[in-house]
Formats: sequence, structure tokens, C-alpha cells
Amino acid sequence: MGVFLIDGGIPLKGSVRISGAKNAILPTLAACLLTEGKSVLKDVPDLEDVHTMCGLLTSLGANISFNTIQKEITVDTSHIHEHTAPYELVNTMRASFLVMGPLLARKGRARVSLPGGCAIGSRPVDLHLKGFSALGANINTGHGYVEAQVRGKLTGARIYLDFPSVGATENILMAAVLAKGQTTIENAATEPEIVDLATMLVSMGATVTGAGTDTIRVTGTEQLNPAEHTIIPDRIEAGTFMVAAAMTGGNVLLKNVLPDHLKPVTAKLREAGVEISEELGCIRVKGLEKPKAVDIKTHPHPGFPTDMQAQMTSFLSFAEGTSMVVETIFENRFMHVSELKRMGARIKIDGRTAIIEGGIPFMGAQVKATDLRAGAALILAGLCAKDKTEISDIYHIDRGYEKMEEKLKALGARICRL
Ligand code: UD1
Repeated sequence: MGVFLIDGGIPLKGSVRISGAKNAILPTLAACLLTEGKSVLKDVPDLEDVHTMCGLLTSLGANISFNTIQKEITVDTSHIHEHTAPYELVNTMRASFLVMGPLLARKGRARVSLPGGCAIGSRPVDLHLKGFSALGANINTGHGYVEAQVRGKLTGARIYLDFPSVGATENILMAAVLAKGQTTIENAATEPEIVDLATMLVSMGATVTGAGTDTIRVTGTEQLNPAEHTIIPDRIEAGTFMVAAAMTGGNVLLKNVLPDHLKPVTAKLREAGVEISEELGCIRVKGLEKPKAVDIKTHPHPGFPTDMQAQMTSFLSFAEGTSMVVETIFENRFMHVSELKRMGARIKIDGRTAIIEGGIPFMGAQVKATDLRAGAALILAGLCAKDKTEISDIYHIDRGYEKMEEKLKALGARICRL
């Protein structure tokens, strides 16, 4: 298992291109199962999670070629012969569960390993299953698997989600596009990745309206066709680089971003005093020596994203004053705190709230990435520390950040992978 060595204290300068979004490519890859033939996905990030999803689709019978130089994946789904997503794959990546909706819709049958808990919380799939059930599927769970079956076709229904779950919205949406009649998903998630998935489904011939609002309407269709689709830029990778520029007192131009997707992060960084300017498709971030403390509470979109909470906790340890961070989405998403404390941060946790006493300089230390965004938070602290930091278990970071160390090096950071 690799480690990152960081020799911090260098202000980041220059420009960085943001990759396609991890959380958009995973559902769009699953959506390819809805058609028969070759779909092409563009601006695909070369991430461990993408390879895992490709492995899963291959095990179902898809033929995949991934050109990592051109950032393009071709998925040929002409011969899908399997309907089981095995434990080994679902266990390494929860998003594997997203094949359930498309398999059920196209094959009438899907058997998917139940995802277990993960580092950040228990993460059930009850909302996905309620949705499939409402569409007419018979659901059985046993021996660690969920088996869903339908006689004939799924039938459109009105589905209210108790919580606007991103994964449940995507899975139900993918099942509904091949169902008979109309489906309405109420209290749907409104994340940009949902809109991206809907755009791909529409280019496959689906009738979907309202994606990006809390009510999505689908009119089912007999058959969908393969499509070509370009993935949206990764708003969480962009947010992480914005914080990196801000914390190192740098001056960084982020290219290939959609500023609208970054509103909550931009607003909080500006409130802390960071200078941010937006141009079409680009954002410039200029850090300052002493940003101010701000309070943050995570919410479903368009609120502050939970996937940026760990990075902001790092930032607020560096900012002057006391801040409060409230995590409302996941029950156990403060694993980075004990590692940040080993680097000198002063943070107290009370339930889902972190109270951060900022303005204390980070010291380099040996620390461990406990999950993807926790790993990002440690990189940020390491970039800011005036001496050496060693981060282990960086496979978590490789799941969701494309060539993180190369991008940081190009901005002047002293970071290497051992
Ligand atoms: C997606 C993102 C993840 C992000 C999360 C929240 C992908 C691949 N991952 O994960 O990076 O952190 O959205 O923005 O897109 N829940 C239930 N029952 C369910 C489903 C969810 O109770 O059936 C709960 C979860 O336990 C959690 C909350 O809803 O507390 C949010 O989960 P959800 O929006 O489903 O997240 P994911 O789709 O798993």
C-alpha cells in the first residue's frame, strides 16, 4: 500500500484542470446496461472506483475498453448474460448497487450483494428497495444478497422518498425509464450528478423531466439506444483544490469547472475572506494569510456538500477563530478529526458537531487516510504544515482523485508517492 510524503509550506500557484466527476461517471456507466450496443462516455476520470465499476459491468457480460489517455470509455452491452453483482465488488464500492435498477429494468431480474456499512456510516439501501417494490418488483433478501424480480415489465408509480438519497434517486430513475407508463419521484435528490444522469438517459431516448428539482417525472419507453455522453466536471475535486489554494496562501486557476455547482463552497470560502473570481468554465482562488472562522452545516444539494466537510474541517483548523461544523448526512463522518489532531489541530466532537479552535499551525506527522475525503483533508493539512507529513492507506484517495499528487506537483507542491 502506497504512502504520500508531503513537505508542506509552499503556496500553490498555476492552473489545474479538474477531471470528470466520480459521482457522475459511476451511475452513467451503470445506465449503459439499459441499452443493447455501444455507448461512449467522455472525460472519464482514471480512478479506482471507475475500474471497479468497469470490472462489475464486465462480469455481467459487457465488453469495455477504457482509453485513459483520451479519457474515453466504450461500453458494449450487447451480451449481458449475468444478473448478479457479487459481494467482492459491492463490498469494495457501494455504488456497485447502482446496477440493480438497470438490470431489473432490462433483464427483469437482479441479484446484488447487500452493501455493508462503511467507515462513514451504516448506509442502508431501504429507499432503493422501496422504489423498486413500488415499480412492481418482488424483493427478497437473504444470505447477504437482495434479489429483485418482476414478471413482465416494471410498472410506473408515484414514489415519495423519505430522504432525498442520491443513490436511490438514480437507481429508481434508471429502473423507471424502461417501465410501463409514468413514474414520479418526489423528494428526489437534486444533485448535479442526477441531472447528468438524466441528460445521458434522455440522449438514450428516455423521457425524463424535472431532474435537478425535487420532482422527477419519467414516461417509460420500450427500448433505449446506446448514446455518447460527456461527464460533468467533479465539483468535489474542484472544491478540494480551492481549499488547497486557500490554505497555502496560493493563487490557482481551476479549469473545467461549473461555478454554479460550487456555490456553497465558494460562499463559505468567501465568507472566510478568501478571494474567488469566476469566469466561464474557470475559477481563480487567491489565498490569504489569515482566513476567518466560519460555521458549516452539511445538507443535501443545494446545501453544503458532506463530501467537502472533511476538507473544510482542515481549512477551519487553519483559519483564525472558533468554528462549528455540523454533519447531518452521515452519522460517523469525523474520522479525519483524530488524524488532524495528531497534526496539531484542536477539535472537539460532540455527536454530529465538531468545534474547531483554529489558528493553530499544523505540524507534520504520520497519519492514515480512513476514507476518501478524510484522506483529502490530511493532504490539505500536510500542504499547509511547515514540515514533513506521511499519509498511509492512500488507496482511499486513489478511489476518487485522479493523479492527485501529479496535479499538486504541477502547482508547486512537494509531494511524492512511495
Ligand atoms: C452519494 C455519493 C457520496 C455522497 C452522498 C451524499 C455517489 C457514488 N456517492 O452517496 O459521495 O457523500 O451521495 O451526498 O454518488 N440513506 C438511507 N436509505 C437509503 C439510501 C440512503 O437511509 O436507501 C441515507 C444514508 O444512510 C445517508 C443519506 O441517506 O445517511 C444519504 O445517502 P445517499 O444520498 O443515498 O448517498 P449515496 O448515494 O450512497
